[in-house]
Amino acid sequence: MKTHHGIILCLAAVIVATTSTISVADDARVKPTVGIIGTGDMGDSLGPRFAELGYSVVYGSRNPDSEKAQNVVKLTGDDARVTTQKEAAQAGDIVVLAVPWPPMETVAQNLGSLDGKIVIDISMPAEQAEDGYLVSLVETSSAEMIQSWNPGARVVKAFATLASYVIDNPDVVGGPVTVPIASDDRAAKERVGKIIAAMGLDPVDAGPLRLSREIEALQRLYMVPLLQRRSAAWEPYFRRSYFWECIWTDDYSDPVGDADDLADMPDTQGPARPCPGT
Ligand SMILES: NC(=O)c1ccc[n+]([C@@H]2O[C@H](COP(=O)([O-])OP(=O)(O)OC[C@H]3O[C@@H](n4cnc5c(N)ncnc54)[C@H](OP(=O)(O)O)[C@@H]3O)[C@@H](O)[C@H]2O)c1
Repeated sequence: MKTHHGIILCLAAVIVATTSTISVADDARVKPTVGIIGTGDMGDSLGPRFAELGYSVVYGSRNPDSEKAQNVVKLTGDDARVTTQKEAAQAGDIVVLAVPWPPMETVAQNLGSLDGKIVIDISMPAEQAEDGYLVSLVETSSAEMIQSWNPGARVVKAFATLASYVIDNPDVVGGPVTVPIASDDRAAKERVGKIIAAMGLDPVDAGPLRLSREIEALQRLYMVPLLQRRSAAWEPYFRRSYFWECIWTDDYSDPVGDADDLADMPDTQGPARPCPGT
């Protein structure tokens, strides 16, 4: 009896441990779902890539019956479907907000409860100034505003500084493309980092959600060649160096607040180079 109890307790412990540590993406028995709000350039690039990674893709559209929305579903695969924006957001464990700014202000406040969901903001809240270059339309960042409207959501800024055709096929530019990720939620940042690496892109931890402002500034810089009507675009690439490791000392700076709890990012570029002269 004692032994049975022991076995039962052990089994119970295993079941509790298993169920409590399984996130939907890690559980091969449960197909994770991504809700992609918007069926435009970015939505129809990200959807098929998520589908390749084993996600059920549910698009959210203002016009789910439109030819455009139905074509995006066909492009994505048998398991994809399209519904209203709110229903798609409710269906997703991960929700990608792939709509333009300013419409995002209305969209992101009308998706129902996003509590506990990873919400990826890819938007560029900017417009052209008189000189033709971009200025931000917001005082903080779109990601922080989305977080403030949805306090229970795990907002992540990512996929914001690259073109949709690079998401379709990262090899098209002939080298790695870096995707900075900002979030206040470490686990969310790590999950999105793994997805980005699995898509063949190079994720980097850009810090807390507040650093979305810098990502959005990078977007405005990224757009410069287009606005200048130059023929070649840029794609950002943060090449791993040796530099900080070689010169950093304790009195160089105060550590960041989350220094002891940094996100683990997939290592897509291998180890840092050895210090010069070593
Ligand atoms: N395109 C890029 O390469 C790129 C790169 C980096 C970041 N971004 C950012 O990603 C976001 C999406 O870009 P995109 O190029 O995919 O945009 P898009 O093609 O212009 O539009 C995206 C989709 O959003 C929905 N939408 C448009 N207006 C709306 C409104 N007033 N209310 C609700 N939904 C609306 C539409 O889907 P339905 O018709 O199905 O409703 C539309 O197809 C933007 O914030 C953009 O700044 C784009």
